[in-house]
Amino acid sequence: MASYTLTINGQQKTVEADADTPMLWVLRDELDLKGTKFGCGIGQCGACTVHLNGNAVRSCQLPVSAIGENEITTIEGLSENGDHPLQKAWTEHDVPQCGYCQAGQIMNAAALLNRNPNPSDQEIADATHGNLCRCGTYNKIRAAVATAAKS
Ligand code: FES
Ligand code: FES
Repeated sequence: MASYTLTINGQQKTVEADADTPMLWVLRDELDLKGTKFGCGIGQCGACTVHLNGNAVRSCQLPVSAIGENEITTIEGLSENGDHPLQKAWTEHDVPQCGYCQAGQIMNAAALLNRNPNPSDQEIADATHGNLCRCGTYNKIRAAVATAAKS
């Protein structure tokens, strides 16, 4: 075990963890940020997506010892009141079904809009297809990302 001081959603948090502990478990079990979900645990589904300096990363594959000074943002920290343009568009398009994958979907989409505020339909499709949704909300996800990009 070692002590790590991390910047999570703009706040400094100190946790005790083994160096290879995935950030997913630090977020959920140590910091009680349960919006980030465990899906596959092997980097394949995207349910655990968070931001590392604004880029989408899969927290199940990210050891706590690799974070250093970099900033983590989770779905809880994406906006003050759930009013990020993507969150509003998600509501407008009524995207979620069971909801399990949706935090990861939104964080992945937010990273896309960080690097490309005006993505084409193809760019949206390319950027979102790697986040799996067992409920098949893909069409609504793409439509909501396009709406958010316009707002
Ligand atoms: S739980 Fe991390 S990619 Fe599936
Ligand atoms: S909304 Fe159910 S897995 Fe995506």
